[in-house]
Amino acid sequence: MRAMSNLKRVAVTGAAGQIGYSLLPMIATGGIFGPNTKVVLQLLEVTPVLPSLEGVKMELHDSAYPLVQDVICTDSAEVAFKDADLCLLVGSKPRGKGMERKDLILDNGPIFIGQGRAIAQQAGPDVRVVVVGNPCNTNCLIAMKNAKGVPPERFTAMTRLDQNRAKAQLALKARKHWSQVKNVIIWGNHSNTQYPDWHHATIDGVPAQKAVNDDAWLQGAFLKTVQERGAAVIAARGKSSALSAAQAAIDHARSLFTVVDKTDTAALCVVSDGSYGTPEGLISSFPCTTDGKGNWQIVKGLAMDDWSKQKAKVSTDELVQEREIVKHLLA
Ligand code: NAD
Ligand code: LMR
Repeated sequence: MRAMSNLKRVAVTGAAGQIGYSLLPMIATGGIFGPNTKVVLQLLEVTPVLPSLEGVKMELHDSAYPLVQDVICTDSAEVAFKDADLCLLVGSKPRGKGMERKDLILDNGPIFIGQGRAIAQQAGPDVRVVVVGNPCNTNCLIAMKNAKGVPPERFTAMTRLDQNRAKAQLALKARKHWSQVKNVIIWGNHSNTQYPDWHHATIDGVPAQKAVNDDAWLQGAFLKTVQERGAAVIAARGKSSALSAAQAAIDHARSLFTVVDKTDTAALCVVSDGSYGTPEGLISSFPCTTDGKGNWQIVKGLAMDDWSKQKAKVSTDELVQEREIVKHLLA
């Protein structure tokens, strides 16, 4: 029987990977859909990794989560996405030391052709897709273009981690708590060209620029720290971020589906309608509001000075270049 509204089918790709191992318990304890919604976990891995995925399944069973209705493990995208309400596309290679995320583009991009097609064929009629695997903006574009018949607005990619990082850096500098930081914007690509924009942010209700009172830091160390945080984590851990990435995926999906915070905007990479000079059709990060029913809107009309416009353009220009590199993968 088709799922009742208090049961959601959540597909997770790359589920035996490091992000998967942090993410699955968060979903299983109601992190996205809350404490009254059961979940069926539909887990996709590549064939050689299925034995390891079986181990993850054992642990999910052994956790006896009250909200987990079933755990399905498969190496078939068609099975994993069957009737899915939410597809979290994590599965893909992470970068290593000394690499940029876009160095992964030709290895990981092709994965999203078949997955986009399988989503179009198999997913539930109201599916939402969140792309985490890097380079996530361009992978999302590939999935969206190959998912014929699925509205482009259903596809989003993740810069929530960058937004959370920016909040934390501002809070630490201003000696406040990160929960008091609102409306930090991430413009552009989930890459080191992204522009974390503090101009509309507040810290405990005070404009961030005033609360921080150090423009040189904002334009220098703050920007660089957020832009290069992923590489810093890799340098420190020898592996890319996982628990913060999983938390960001939860925050992203929860913004879409359950939590509407009228005091903040969500950083979501969504299909551009040309707002703020971003070329139409790119998957780029914008400040968004959400309705808790899976839908988002780009916040319009925010002022940007020439410095900010230039910073954002560097990143959207990079997205244009990435689109050019994968044009043969866009159906
Ligand atoms: P990982 O190597 O630990 O796990 C990835 C898993 O994906 C592996 O188990 C692998 O077998 C699986 N996989 C590979 N190809 C697949 C396919 N075609 N179908 C299904 N599964 C497949 O990597 P990780 O640390 O979990 O990171 C996963 C991805 O997320 C990487 O690309 C990483 O760069 C990216 N990432 C993005 C963000 C972000 O903010 N957007 C943050 C952190 C990591
Ligand atoms: C991150 O931002 O931590 C991830 O995208 C992983 C990476 O390669 O930096």
